[in-house]
Amino acid sequence: MKLVPKSLNARPGKAESLPPGPLPELRKPVSRSRTIRIDFRNGEIAPESLMDKFVIRGGNPLVGSVRISGAKNAALPAMAAALLTDEPVILENIPDVRDIHTERNLLVSMGAEVELGYGRASHRTTISCSNLVNPEAAYELVKTMRASTLVLGPLVARTGRARVSQPGGCAIGARPIDLHIKGLERLGAAIKQEHGYIEASAERLRGGHIIFDKITVTGTEDLMMAATLAEGETIMENCAREPEVIDLAALLTKMGAKIEGAGTHTIRIHGVEKLHGARHRIIPDRIEAGTFVIAAVLTGGDLQLTNCDPSHLGSLIQKLEECGVSITAGTDSMRVTNGHQLVAADISTEEFPGFPTDMQAQYMTLATQAQGTSLITENIFENRFMHAGELARMGANIKVDGRRAVVRGRTPLSSAAVQCSDLRASASLVIAALVADGETIIDRVYHIDRGYERIEEKLKGVGAQIRRIGEILPRRAAAPSVVA
Ligand code: EPU
Repeated sequence: MKLVPKSLNARPGKAESLPPGPLPELRKPVSRSRTIRIDFRNGEIAPESLMDKFVIRGGNPLVGSVRISGAKNAALPAMAAALLTDEPVILENIPDVRDIHTERNLLVSMGAEVELGYGRASHRTTISCSNLVNPEAAYELVKTMRASTLVLGPLVARTGRARVSQPGGCAIGARPIDLHIKGLERLGAAIKQEHGYIEASAERLRGGHIIFDKITVTGTEDLMMAATLAEGETIMENCAREPEVIDLAALLTKMGAKIEGAGTHTIRIHGVEKLHGARHRIIPDRIEAGTFVIAAVLTGGDLQLTNCDPSHLGSLIQKLEECGVSITAGTDSMRVTNGHQLVAADISTEEFPGFPTDMQAQYMTLATQAQGTSLITENIFENRFMHAGELARMGANIKVDGRRAVVRGRTPLSSAAVQCSDLRASASLVIAALVADGETIIDRVYHIDRGYERIEEKLKGVGAQIRRIGEILPRRAAAPSVVA
């Protein structure tokens, strides 16, 4: 399937053949594909999925094998990196989740041609940005996904101009993007902020010295992309060291960028005149893997995870071992079994390689089932305990005080009607429902669809009782009794 901008004519037949390029592999035939026109509003949630709910009956151990998808948070910057070249970028292992659909639509709205693989190649996406007609990220798309701001750096570096909507607040915190903006200014961009948009312009960016006030993952990625096409050398200090940053640097290097130090606090980039197309496989999703690990632990299961990278999960594995869990890790697989009573252990979220904030909610569910008191400190986002209230409704004993939560375990969980507030909070509720007594109904699962690929099918495949349903119609009211 190929997505083309509405403003451009669909060119039948072109979907099968890639333009000639320097890389022989780019000429390999891709799988069957279709060309469709898209409606730019597709980034929004279809009204019917807004009503989707999960019904989960708890109590079944997760037993079997689950294949982990590609990392959403590595795929999003990789797709934005395609803006840096006029040649096709082929990305493999792209997860089929809603944030990826939003980013595809965003790229298409700018003039990119996005071709989706089909059948066995369904996780392959080919992006060609040879004709960027509109270097703008409109509010309608940015409001549904903050990571849209990842296009800011690449757009201004490639086209000399970018107009990106300011994302606004978010359920887990204010999440400003001031560090992206300051960094671009350090690279010589002129920035104007008006009418809710950031406009950046530069004849050509020039290398500069950026010291991030605070470690930011997408900020590091955005500016690393911008610096690849800047004139001269850029040194970035206090950079994020997440595996997703390293993966992006690997892709950019394949595209011809000169980058040293990705994965350390200091990254050096020697700007080049032009980048070219490349083929790249996205790393496995460490957060999806961690979510399944915790689900297996709590259900007393025996789960094998394949296509994952345990080396990205060091802090989680170490913490779970402290709680009494047994994990066997291979190079691209891991097995988790648990038949023991868990013991409480404190966590404090930190930048990589510390305990990931994206696993904090799921760990909180685990803490409700551990013997003793766990102190959970959230250092990255100021409002990331929204799940605590919902877990409490299921019987958890949790007290939140600012950035700290005290969880006293072990408390049995019982089914309830609960509601998702953000992506990872949703995952914590799904896990809670898998161990709760009875049938839990989880509302607003569109949050989980942003970042977990077919989670209900994967869970069902290893023994969970889970069903996705549309709107539940209210029971018909009983007929009023007739009073004589
Ligand atoms: N921050 C600023 N100014 C900035 C940028 C960030 O003050 O210009 C602050 C943030 O408000 C936050 C801290 O710095 O307090 C760290 O934020 P960061 O920029 O690192 O977060 P992000 O890049 O917006 C990515 C992931 C998040 C993940 C965080 C932290 C992507 C697309 N998103 O967000 O993933 O929680 O890093 O690891 O990579 C998720 O997948 O559920 C998710 C939220």
